Amino acid sequence: TDSSPPVVAIDGPAGTGKSSVSGALAERLNAGLLDTGAMYRVATLAVLRAGVNVDDADAVYGVVARVRVQVTTAPTDQQVLMGDEDVTAEIRSATVTANVSAVSAIPAVREQLVALQRGAVGDVLTVVEGRDIGTVVFPDAPLKIFLTASAAARADRRHRQNVDAGRDSDYDEVLAAVERRDHLDSTRAVSPLRAAADAVVVDTSESTKEQVIDRLESLVRDTLGVR
Ligand code: DC
Repeated sequence: TDSSPPVVAIDGPAGTGKSSVSGALAERLNAGLLDTGAMYRVATLAVLRAGVNVDDADAVYGVVARVRVQVTTAPTDQQVLMGDEDVTAEIRSATVTANVSAVSAIPAVREQLVALQRGAVGDVLTVVEGRDIGTVVFPDAPLKIFLTASAAARADRRHRQNVDAGRDSDYDEVLAAVERRDHLDSTRAVSPLRAAADAVVVDTSESTKEQVIDRLESLVRDTLGVR
């Protein structure tokens, strides 16, 4: 519709290169960038700091309802705040990563963060990256992209990242973890990970990051008439 915000929705599982591709795309387009996963990570950090059990939905929501979550929408030097505290680095910790699925499965948490996400986009073209952007958050987005890659390709990328960062990593274990998380994410009751019916599905298994960015850039320019 005419009133739908100028959003490029980018959804898909972890390991498709979604974050780096979304950031580079936003830069090329001079667009904003909204990382919705960062918001679920802040909520999770707040819950962990409060010492609340992530499986206690009411207690989790009690914490999340009170926390002020802010993420910047410039494509470079993204900053994430919890209250007044800069938690940009801490939200990427292994502890947060291990607990964010449980927190993001709670309907009241999702409702609160979805409202925040809708409020964060004005009339500037914005690349919004997440899991349910095309299906739930911005169902009228003029362009929806769903990035996929085989489990093997995603595990391979994650394994290489681990090795490059000097972390212990076993490929078979990484692959098993990827498959387990796919199953959880696509079968959860609330906002399961799936492509919107009108999304353009882009498989990144055999592509370089540059090739994927080029393809998305053409899609945006052709579909939205961005020069
Ligand atoms: O993209 P990421 O790894 O930073 O996302 C962190 C977690 O948040 C991930 O487990 C899925 C969840 N998430 C979600 O449920 N909905 C979104 N729109 C974005 C992320």
